[in-house]
Amino acid sequence: MDGPPTAFGSPYRLLSTAVTPRPIGWISTRSTDGIDNLAPYSFFNVVAVDPPVVMFAPVGSDKLKDTPRNVKQTEEFAVNVVTERVVEAMNETSATLSAGESEFDRTGLDRGESVRIDAPHVADAAVVFECTLYEWLEVGSSVLILGEVVHAHVDDDQLTDGKIDIDKLDTIGRLAGSLYTKTGDRFAIERPP
Ligand SMILES: Cc1cc2nc3c(=O)[nH]c(=O)nc-3n(C[C@H](O)[C@H](O)[C@H](O)COP(=O)(O)O)c2cc1C
Repeated sequence: MDGPPTAFGSPYRLLSTAVTPRPIGWISTRSTDGIDNLAPYSFFNVVAVDPPVVMFAPVGSDKLKDTPRNVKQTEEFAVNVVTERVVEAMNETSATLSAGESEFDRTGLDRGESVRIDAPHVADAAVVFECTLYEWLEVGSSVLILGEVVHAHVDDDQLTDGKIDIDKLDTIGRLAGSLYTKTGDRFAIERPP
């Protein structure tokens, strides 16, 4: 069967089911009123390495979600990498709260103080990228937010000889709906020369 992107359910269903597993950018921001916001975005990835740039995409609605609103106003955010130890807390922070309520306070997550940006990060996150807004691009009813990584935090227990080690990092991937995958089932394929 083939057809337009609406032929298999909604375009959201088609794209978010087939483009899996997706990494999750758990984005922390601070509003201009000083409210610390935290929410997961699985439309998230790396865009460039020189300069180091990542992206996430809040998808369409009439009203901006708290995260993009804060990024638009402050031009900064932190990406907290989601690993097994924080996955339940990550899910809790996807609840729709009023703009005046902080997901940090709702979940009891400790704030880590950031170095280059005003927004806090998740103290318990194994890896954190502090970002400044690189580009804001409207794509239909969604927004593509690009952020330049200006500072990084990596837990000592994720390092081998001072470098981040994939054998130690148990990132979580998002599948469709409420399904996730662990990344422990690994295999190697050597690339051709
Ligand atoms: C694992 C996960 C991934 C999500 N990814 C996205 C996403 O990529 N884009 C989006 O708009 N919403 C996404 N959501 C929904 C938002 O997290 C949710 O709308 C949240 O309330 C937004 O919070 P905010 O208004 O504080 O930014 C995701 C939810 C979960 C649980």
